[in-house]
Amino acid sequence: MDNNRLSPLISLKSISRKFKSSAKVTEEDIEILKDVDFEIYKGETIAVVGASGTGKSTLLHIIGTLDRPNHGYLLFENKNLFDLSQEELARFRNSKIGFVFQFHHLLQGFSAIENVMIPGLISNLSKKQIMIDSEAILEMVGLKHRIHHRAEDLSGGEQQRVALARALVMKPDILLADEPTGNLDKINSSQVHNLLVELNKELGMTLMVVTHNNGLASLMEKRVTIQDCKIVDVD
Ligand SMILES: Nc1ncnc2c1ncn2[C@@H]1O[C@H](COP(=O)(O)OP(=O)(O)OP(=O)(O)O)[C@@H](O)[C@H]1O
Ligand SMILES: [Mg+2]
Repeated sequence: MDNNRLSPLISLKSISRKFKSSAKVTEEDIEILKDVDFEIYKGETIAVVGASGTGKSTLLHIIGTLDRPNHGYLLFENKNLFDLSQEELARFRNSKIGFVFQFHHLLQGFSAIENVMIPGLISNLSKKQIMIDSEAILEMVGLKHRIHHRAEDLSGGEQQRVALARALVMKPDILLADEPTGNLDKINSSQVHNLLVELNKELGMTLMVVTHNNGLASLMEKRVTIQDCKIVDVD
């Protein structure tokens, strides 16, 4: 077995997440995750599948430290992420975790390369290095010929690939993607799916993808779902 796979990159320890119900008839909390233990190993590819409203996005947000559980903790290479200050956590997130959402959230009015440069600028890396890295990653996602196009002038598939390049430019240890191709047609979807697999192979990047798309789920090594507030293997 690969050494990387012996100790987890990320461990969820007894994670629970409840939400307050906004319904006036009940004061009861809605329990989404309960005492979840789960480990993600370096280089692994995981699909999170399952019915709407079961907590897939909630899970991804907690792993990405965008949301906090009510109980439990999250280890990254055996360090407790919730021991970090907000500032340290933001820095950690910017350098170690890439996010892709269903909607690309690109900055309109800015070019493809300017959008991709943002995480590097936030990290105060040298502008020259950021430009070199941004161009390289845009080339990797097949957009070398579009780097100076403004975000809004790109097609939906191209915009999503820019978002992917932006998520990858800092070479994160893990890419968390929530319905990354939910808004794309079949051809663009399958291009992005193949790209994700390639990036995992080429960069060794760990991948966790929430998806309703069976094609994408089947490309991942592992498929899990959320059942009775726990993560369970699908096959
Ligand atoms: N901030 C919140 N406040 C209250 N309830 C919430 C909040 N966020 C999520 N929920 C509830 O938690 C449940 C899980 O939501 P989540 O978005 O994780 O589902 P999902 O599995 O990603 O669904 P989908 O496949 O539709 O995207 C839902 O019932 C949702 O209404
Ligand atoms: Mg969701």
